[in-house]
Amino acid sequence: MKSKEIAKNLFYVGVNDRQKALFENLWPLPSGVSYNSYLILDEKNVLVDTVDVCYSDIFLKKIAEILDGRSLDYLIVNHMEPDHSGSIRLLRQRYPDVKIVGNAKTFDMLKGYHGITDGLHEVKDNDTLNIGSRALSFHTAPMVHWIEVMFTYDPKEKTLFSADAFGTFGALNGGIIDKDMNINPYREEIIRYYANIIGKYGSAVQKALQKIAKLDIQTICSTHGPVWRQHLSEAVALYDRMSRYEGEEGVTIVYGSMYGNTEQMADVVAYSLAENGIKNIAVHNVSKNHASYILADIFKYKGLIIGSPTYSNQLYPEIESILSKIGIREVKDRLFGYFGSFSWAGVAVKKLSAFPEQMNWEVVAPPVEQRQGLLSESYEGLWALGKAMADALVGRK
Ligand code: FEO
Repeated sequence: MKSKEIAKNLFYVGVNDRQKALFENLWPLPSGVSYNSYLILDEKNVLVDTVDVCYSDIFLKKIAEILDGRSLDYLIVNHMEPDHSGSIRLLRQRYPDVKIVGNAKTFDMLKGYHGITDGLHEVKDNDTLNIGSRALSFHTAPMVHWIEVMFTYDPKEKTLFSADAFGTFGALNGGIIDKDMNINPYREEIIRYYANIIGKYGSAVQKALQKIAKLDIQTICSTHGPVWRQHLSEAVALYDRMSRYEGEEGVTIVYGSMYGNTEQMADVVAYSLAENGIKNIAVHNVSKNHASYILADIFKYKGLIIGSPTYSNQLYPEIESILSKIGIREVKDRLFGYFGSFSWAGVAVKKLSAFPEQMNWEVVAPPVEQRQGLLSESYEGLWALGKAMADALVGRK
Protein backbone atom coordinates (compact mmCIF):
# COMPACT_ATOMS: atom_id res chain seq x y z
CA MET A 1 0.00 0.00 0.00
CA LYS A 2 1.36 3.41 -0.92
CA SER A 3 1.61 5.79 2.01
CA LYS A 4 1.08 9.49 1.66
CA GLU A 5 4.18 11.70 1.82
CA ILE A 6 2.80 14.80 3.50
CA ALA A 7 6.09 16.70 3.30
CA LYS A 8 9.51 15.71 1.99
CA ASN A 9 10.49 12.56 3.89
CA LEU A 10 7.51 12.84 6.23
CA PHE A 11 5.01 10.02 5.68
CA TYR A 12 1.52 9.39 7.00
CA VAL A 13 1.36 5.80 8.29
CA GLY A 14 -1.92 5.98 10.23
CA VAL A 15 -4.99 3.77 9.83
CA ASN A 16 -8.76 4.08 9.66
CA ASP A 17 -11.10 2.36 12.09
CA ARG A 18 -14.62 2.00 10.73
CA GLN A 19 -15.35 -1.04 12.92
CA LYS A 20 -15.54 0.42 16.38
CA ALA A 21 -19.00 1.65 17.38
CA LEU A 22 -18.00 3.66 20.43
CA PHE A 23 -14.77 5.55 21.06
CA GLU A 24 -13.62 4.88 24.65
CA ASN A 25 -16.67 2.62 24.65
CA LEU A 26 -18.71 5.80 25.16
CA TRP A 27 -18.81 8.10 22.15
CA PRO A 28 -20.48 7.07 18.85
CA LEU A 29 -18.35 6.85 15.73
CA PRO A 30 -20.87 6.97 12.86
CA SER A 31 -18.10 7.89 10.41
CA GLY A 32 -15.29 5.98 12.09
CA VAL A 33 -12.06 7.45 13.38
CA SER A 34 -8.43 7.53 12.26
CA TYR A 35 -5.41 6.75 14.40
CA ASN A 36 -2.64 8.86 12.90
CA SER A 37 1.03 8.02 13.00
CA TYR A 38 3.88 9.67 11.12
CA LEU A 39 7.27 8.47 9.94
CA ILE A 40 10.19 10.88 9.40
CA LEU A 41 13.14 9.72 7.31
CA ASP A 42 16.45 11.43 8.11
CA GLU A 43 19.89 10.24 9.23
CA LYS A 44 17.89 8.71 12.05
CA ASN A 45 14.42 7.43 11.17
CA VAL A 46 11.70 8.41 13.58
CA LEU A 47 8.14 7.24 14.10
CA VAL A 48 5.72 9.54 15.92
CA ASP A 49 3.11 7.60 17.90
CA THR A 50 1.58 4.24 16.95
CA VAL A 51 -2.02 3.04 16.43
CA ASP A 52 -4.68 0.94 18.13
CA VAL A 53 -3.43 -2.64 18.47
CA CYS A 54 -6.31 -3.96 16.30
CA TYR A 55 -4.66 -2.28 13.30
CA SER A 56 -1.05 -3.16 14.08
CA ASP A 57 -0.66 -5.53 11.13
CA ILE A 58 -1.44 -2.99 8.41
CA PHE A 59 0.45 -0.35 10.40
CA LEU A 60 3.66 -2.39 10.60
CA LYS A 61 3.41 -3.20 6.88
CA LYS A 62 3.20 0.51 6.03
CA ILE A 63 6.27 1.27 8.12
CA ALA A 64 8.30 -1.59 6.66
CA GLU A 65 7.48 -0.49 3.11
CA ILE A 66 8.70 3.04 3.70
CA LEU A 67 11.79 2.03 5.64
CA ASP A 68 12.61 -0.44 2.87
CA GLY A 69 15.37 -2.09 4.89
CA ARG A 70 16.51 1.03 6.76
CA SER A 71 16.56 1.00 10.54
CA LEU A 72 13.87 2.47 12.74
CA ASP A 73 15.86 4.47 15.27
CA TYR A 74 13.32 6.27 17.45
CA LEU A 75 9.67 6.03 18.42
CA ILE A 76 8.37 9.26 19.92
CA VAL A 77 5.42 8.66 22.24
CA ASN A 78 3.44 11.87 22.51
CA HIS A 79 0.46 10.18 24.17
CA MET A 80 0.03 6.87 25.97
CA GLU A 81 -3.73 6.34 25.61
CA PRO A 82 -4.07 2.89 24.01
CA ASP A 83 -5.58 4.21 20.76
CA HIS A 84 -2.03 5.50 20.11
CA SER A 85 0.21 3.36 22.27
CA GLY A 86 -1.52 0.04 21.54
CA SER A 87 1.04 -1.13 18.97
CA ILE A 88 4.19 -0.21 20.90
CA ARG A 89 4.92 -3.70 22.16
CA LEU A 90 4.56 -5.26 18.71
CA LEU A 91 6.62 -2.47 17.16
CA ARG A 92 9.37 -3.16 19.70
CA GLN A 93 9.28 -6.86 18.85
CA ARG A 94 9.67 -6.03 15.17
CA TYR A 95 12.34 -3.33 15.75
CA PRO A 96 14.12 -4.38 18.97
CA ASP A 97 16.70 -1.58 18.73
CA VAL A 98 14.19 1.25 18.44
CA LYS A 99 14.71 3.79 21.22
CA ILE A 100 11.48 5.02 22.77
CA VAL A 101 11.35 8.76 23.40
CA GLY A 102 9.07 10.13 26.10
CA ASN A 103 9.02 11.95 29.41
CA ALA A 104 9.09 10.47 32.91
CA LYS A 105 5.29 10.18 33.01
CA THR A 106 5.25 8.46 29.61
CA PHE A 107 7.70 5.89 30.91
CA ASP A 108 5.68 5.21 34.03
CA MET A 109 2.72 4.32 31.78
CA LEU A 110 4.91 2.42 29.31
CA LYS A 111 5.98 0.16 32.15
CA GLY A 112 2.42 -0.24 33.43
CA TYR A 113 0.72 -0.91 30.10
CA HIS A 114 3.48 -2.71 28.21
CA GLY A 115 6.10 -3.78 30.75
CA ILE A 116 8.75 -1.89 28.76
CA THR A 117 11.54 -0.39 30.87
CA ASP A 118 14.61 -0.47 28.62
CA GLY A 119 15.80 1.25 25.47
CA LEU A 120 14.30 4.55 26.61
CA HIS A 121 15.37 8.10 25.86
CA GLU A 122 13.88 10.48 28.38
CA VAL A 123 13.15 14.09 27.43
CA LYS A 124 12.00 17.11 29.39
CA ASP A 125 10.14 20.22 28.31
CA ASN A 126 11.98 22.03 25.47
CA ASP A 127 14.62 19.32 25.06
CA THR A 128 15.74 18.57 21.52
CA LEU A 129 16.76 15.46 19.64
CA ASN A 130 19.06 15.78 16.64
CA ILE A 131 18.13 13.28 13.95
CA GLY A 132 20.35 14.52 11.14
CA SER A 133 19.12 17.50 9.18
CA ARG A 134 16.88 18.71 11.98
CA ALA A 135 16.55 18.82 15.77
CA LEU A 136 13.10 17.83 16.93
CA SER A 137 11.93 19.65 20.06
CA PHE A 138 9.54 18.44 22.77
CA HIS A 139 6.89 20.50 24.52
CA THR A 140 4.99 18.97 27.39
CA ALA A 141 1.21 19.53 27.29
CA PRO A 142 -0.07 17.87 30.47
CA MET A 143 -3.82 17.17 30.53
CA VAL A 144 -4.33 17.79 26.84
CA HIS A 145 -5.80 14.90 27.29
CA TRP A 146 -3.71 12.84 29.75
CA ILE A 147 -0.98 13.87 32.15
CA GLU A 148 1.98 12.59 30.09
CA VAL A 149 0.98 14.29 26.81
CA MET A 150 3.65 16.17 24.91
CA PHE A 151 3.92 17.76 21.49
CA THR A 152 6.86 17.28 19.12
CA TYR A 153 8.00 20.02 16.77
CA ASP A 154 9.96 19.60 13.55
CA PRO A 155 11.55 22.97 12.73
CA LYS A 156 12.64 21.89 9.27
CA GLU A 157 9.12 21.22 8.03
CA LYS A 158 7.57 23.66 10.56
CA THR A 159 5.34 20.80 11.66
CA LEU A 160 3.78 20.19 15.06
CA PHE A 161 2.86 16.67 16.09
CA SER A 162 0.10 17.50 18.52
CA ALA A 163 -1.19 14.22 20.02
CA ASP A 164 -5.00 14.46 20.48
CA ALA A 165 -5.03 18.25 20.19
CA PHE A 166 -6.83 19.45 17.05
CA GLY A 167 -8.08 15.90 16.49
CA THR A 168 -11.46 14.94 15.10
CA PHE A 169 -13.73 11.95 14.92
CA GLY A 170 -14.29 10.63 11.40
CA ALA A 171 -12.08 8.27 9.36
CA LEU A 172 -9.93 9.79 6.61
CA ASN A 173 -11.79 8.95 3.42
CA GLY A 174 -8.95 9.21 0.94
CA GLY A 175 -7.46 12.61 1.66
CA ILE A 176 -5.00 13.07 4.52
CA ILE A 177 -4.22 16.79 4.31
CA ASP A 178 -7.08 19.25 4.78
CA LYS A 179 -6.49 20.98 1.42
CA ASP A 180 -7.20 17.70 -0.37
CA MET A 181 -10.66 17.09 1.09
CA ASN A 182 -14.02 18.62 1.92
CA ILE A 183 -13.44 19.39 5.58
CA ASN A 184 -17.05 20.33 6.42
CA PRO A 185 -17.85 17.06 8.24
CA TYR A 186 -14.69 17.48 10.34
CA ARG A 187 -15.72 21.00 11.34
CA GLU A 188 -18.52 19.46 13.43
CA GLU A 189 -16.51 16.48 14.57
CA ILE A 190 -13.57 18.51 15.88
CA ILE A 191 -16.05 20.21 18.22
CA ARG A 192 -17.64 16.92 19.30
CA TYR A 193 -14.20 15.43 19.87
CA TYR A 194 -13.09 18.42 21.90
CA ALA A 195 -16.27 18.68 23.98
CA ASN A 196 -16.27 15.03 24.93
CA ILE A 197 -12.62 14.06 25.14
CA ILE A 198 -10.71 17.21 26.07
CA GLY A 199 -13.45 19.60 27.18
CA LYS A 200 -12.72 19.29 30.88
CA TYR A 201 -9.17 20.57 30.44
CA GLY A 202 -9.68 24.09 29.08
CA SER A 203 -6.98 25.71 31.20
CA ALA A 204 -4.46 23.02 30.21
CA VAL A 205 -5.28 23.65 26.54
CA GLN A 206 -4.79 27.39 27.03
CA LYS A 207 -1.34 26.77 28.54
CA ALA A 208 -0.41 24.49 25.63
CA LEU A 209 -1.61 27.06 23.09
CA GLN A 210 0.56 29.71 24.75
CA LYS A 211 3.55 27.40 24.55
CA ILE A 212 3.15 26.61 20.87
CA ALA A 213 2.45 30.24 19.96
CA LYS A 214 6.24 30.73 20.08
CA LEU A 215 6.77 28.17 17.31
CA ASP A 216 6.51 28.81 13.59
CA ILE A 217 3.92 26.17 12.70
CA GLN A 218 2.72 25.59 9.15
CA THR A 219 1.39 22.05 9.54
CA ILE A 220 -0.31 20.33 12.46
CA CYS A 221 -0.27 16.55 12.55
CA SER A 222 -2.82 15.41 15.10
CA THR A 223 -3.39 11.80 16.10
CA HIS A 224 -6.98 11.87 14.77
CA GLY A 225 -8.45 13.32 11.60
CA PRO A 226 -7.00 15.58 8.91
CA VAL A 227 -3.52 17.04 8.81
CA TRP A 228 -4.12 20.77 9.23
CA ARG A 229 -2.35 23.06 6.81
CA GLN A 230 -4.78 25.19 4.79
CA HIS A 231 -7.22 25.43 7.73
CA LEU A 232 -4.57 25.45 10.46
CA SER A 233 -5.40 28.88 11.84
CA GLU A 234 -9.11 28.00 11.88
CA ALA A 235 -8.37 24.89 13.95
CA VAL A 236 -6.13 26.82 16.38
CA ALA A 237 -8.68 29.65 16.74
CA LEU A 238 -11.42 27.10 17.41
CA TYR A 239 -9.33 25.45 20.12
CA ASP A 240 -8.63 28.83 21.64
CA ARG A 241 -12.34 29.68 21.74
CA MET A 242 -13.47 26.31 23.05
CA SER A 243 -10.81 26.14 25.76
CA ARG A 244 -11.94 29.56 26.96
CA TYR A 245 -15.52 28.20 26.91
CA GLU A 246 -16.51 31.04 24.61
CA GLY A 247 -19.93 30.24 23.12
CA GLU A 248 -21.36 31.59 19.86
CA GLU A 249 -24.69 33.40 19.74
CA GLY A 250 -27.05 30.47 19.93
CA VAL A 251 -28.97 28.25 22.32
CA THR A 252 -28.99 24.58 23.15
CA ILE A 253 -32.32 23.36 24.49
CA VAL A 254 -32.18 19.98 26.18
CA TYR A 255 -35.32 18.34 27.45
CA GLY A 256 -36.60 15.05 28.76
CA SER A 257 -40.22 14.11 28.14
CA MET A 258 -42.20 10.94 28.73
CA TYR A 259 -45.49 11.84 27.05
CA GLY A 260 -44.73 15.06 25.17
CA ASN A 261 -45.81 17.70 27.68
CA THR A 262 -42.28 18.88 28.53
CA GLU A 263 -41.45 18.58 24.84
CA GLN A 264 -44.20 21.07 24.02
CA MET A 265 -42.64 23.45 26.54
CA ALA A 266 -39.29 23.14 24.78
CA ASP A 267 -40.92 23.97 21.47
CA VAL A 268 -42.52 27.12 22.85
CA VAL A 269 -39.11 28.32 24.08
CA ALA A 270 -37.57 27.52 20.69
CA TYR A 271 -40.30 29.44 18.83
CA SER A 272 -39.79 32.41 21.10
CA LEU A 273 -36.01 32.37 20.59
CA ALA A 274 -36.51 32.34 16.82
CA GLU A 275 -39.14 35.09 16.93
CA ASN A 276 -36.70 37.13 18.97
CA GLY A 277 -33.92 36.84 16.41
CA ILE A 278 -31.88 33.81 17.44
CA LYS A 279 -30.93 31.67 14.45
CA ASN A 280 -28.72 29.03 16.04
CA ILE A 281 -31.07 26.86 18.08
CA ALA A 282 -30.28 23.20 18.76
CA VAL A 283 -33.11 21.23 20.37
CA HIS A 284 -32.23 17.86 21.87
CA ASN A 285 -34.55 15.18 23.19
CA VAL A 286 -32.19 13.83 25.83
CA SER A 287 -33.60 10.30 25.54
CA LYS A 288 -32.98 10.14 21.80
CA ASN A 289 -29.88 12.16 20.98
CA HIS A 290 -26.57 10.87 22.25
CA ALA A 291 -24.98 12.99 24.96
CA SER A 292 -21.88 13.53 22.84
CA TYR A 293 -23.87 15.61 20.32
CA ILE A 294 -25.61 17.52 23.10
CA LEU A 295 -22.29 18.35 24.75
CA ALA A 296 -20.89 19.50 21.41
CA ASP A 297 -23.71 22.02 21.07
CA ILE A 298 -23.32 23.13 24.69
CA PHE A 299 -19.66 23.91 23.94
CA LYS A 300 -20.69 25.67 20.74
CA TYR A 301 -23.44 27.97 22.03
CA LYS A 302 -23.52 30.53 24.80
CA GLY A 303 -27.14 29.84 25.84
CA LEU A 304 -28.41 26.68 27.49
CA ILE A 305 -31.99 25.89 28.48
CA ILE A 306 -32.88 22.65 30.21
CA GLY A 307 -36.33 21.17 30.77
CA SER A 308 -37.18 18.16 32.91
CA PRO A 309 -40.27 16.38 34.13
CA THR A 310 -40.40 15.15 37.69
CA TYR A 311 -39.70 11.43 37.73
CA SER A 312 -39.95 9.30 40.88
CA ASN A 313 -39.67 12.48 42.93
CA GLN A 314 -36.39 13.34 41.16
CA LEU A 315 -35.15 14.86 37.94
CA TYR A 316 -35.74 12.83 34.81
CA PRO A 317 -32.83 10.33 34.88
CA GLU A 318 -31.38 11.27 31.50
CA ILE A 319 -31.44 14.94 32.45
CA GLU A 320 -29.60 14.05 35.67
CA SER A 321 -27.05 12.25 33.53
CA ILE A 322 -26.45 15.15 31.13
CA LEU A 323 -26.13 17.58 34.06
CA SER A 324 -23.43 15.34 35.48
CA LYS A 325 -21.57 15.30 32.14
CA ILE A 326 -21.74 19.10 31.90
CA GLY A 327 -20.57 19.43 35.51
CA ILE A 328 -17.61 17.11 34.96
CA ARG A 329 -16.48 19.31 32.06
CA GLU A 330 -16.71 22.45 34.21
CA VAL A 331 -18.32 24.37 31.33
CA LYS A 332 -17.97 28.06 32.12
CA ASP A 333 -19.87 31.24 31.48
CA ARG A 334 -23.18 30.05 30.05
CA LEU A 335 -26.48 31.92 30.06
CA PHE A 336 -28.99 29.54 31.59
CA GLY A 337 -32.74 29.02 31.69
CA TYR A 338 -34.84 26.10 32.87
CA PHE A 339 -38.31 24.72 33.08
CA GLY A 340 -40.07 21.58 34.21
CA SER A 341 -43.30 19.71 34.62
CA PHE A 342 -45.01 17.36 37.03
CA SER A 343 -48.29 15.55 37.50
CA TRP A 344 -48.95 15.91 41.23
CA ALA A 345 -45.72 16.94 43.06
CA GLY A 346 -43.19 19.26 41.45
CA VAL A 347 -39.55 18.43 42.14
CA ALA A 348 -37.68 18.86 38.83
CA VAL A 349 -37.63 22.68 38.75
CA LYS A 350 -36.43 22.87 42.35
CA LYS A 351 -33.65 20.40 41.60
CA LEU A 352 -32.68 22.25 38.42
CA SER A 353 -32.37 25.51 40.35
CA ALA A 354 -29.24 24.20 42.09
CA PHE A 355 -27.39 23.63 38.81
CA PRO A 356 -26.63 27.23 37.74
CA GLU A 357 -25.42 27.91 41.28
CA GLN A 358 -23.09 24.93 41.07
CA MET A 359 -21.78 26.11 37.69
CA ASN A 360 -21.73 29.80 38.59
CA TRP A 361 -23.88 30.65 35.57
CA GLU A 362 -26.25 33.56 35.04
CA VAL A 363 -29.96 32.69 35.03
CA VAL A 364 -31.73 34.84 32.43
CA ALA A 365 -35.36 34.51 33.58
CA PRO A 366 -37.50 32.87 36.25
CA PRO A 367 -38.06 29.16 35.67
CA VAL A 368 -41.38 27.88 34.37
CA GLU A 369 -43.09 25.02 36.14
CA GLN A 370 -46.09 23.32 34.57
CA ARG A 371 -48.58 21.00 36.19
CA GLN A 372 -49.75 18.38 33.69
CA GLY A 373 -50.60 19.80 30.22
CA LEU A 374 -49.53 23.10 28.65
CA LEU A 375 -51.69 25.98 29.90
CA SER A 376 -51.68 29.60 28.85
CA GLU A 377 -49.81 30.76 32.01
CA SER A 378 -46.92 28.44 31.35
CA TYR A 379 -47.02 29.34 27.64
CA GLU A 380 -46.48 32.98 28.54
CA GLY A 381 -43.69 32.14 30.98
CA LEU A 382 -41.93 29.99 28.39
CA TRP A 383 -42.25 32.69 25.76
CA ALA A 384 -40.78 35.19 28.22
CA LEU A 385 -37.94 32.78 28.97
CA GLY A 386 -37.09 32.52 25.27
CA LYS A 387 -37.21 36.29 24.89
CA ALA A 388 -35.07 36.90 27.96
CA MET A 389 -32.47 34.44 26.66
CA ALA A 390 -32.47 36.09 23.22
CA ASP A 391 -32.11 39.54 24.80
CA ALA A 392 -29.27 38.41 27.04
CA LEU A 393 -27.46 36.81 24.09
CA VAL A 394 -27.54 39.87 21.90
CA GLY A 395 -27.05 42.29 24.78
CA ARG A 396 -30.53 43.87 24.62
CA LYS A 397 -31.75 45.42 27.85
FE1 FEO B 1 -6.67 9.65 20.98
FE2 FEO B 1 -6.35 10.57 24.30
O1 FEO B 1 -6.23 9.44 22.81
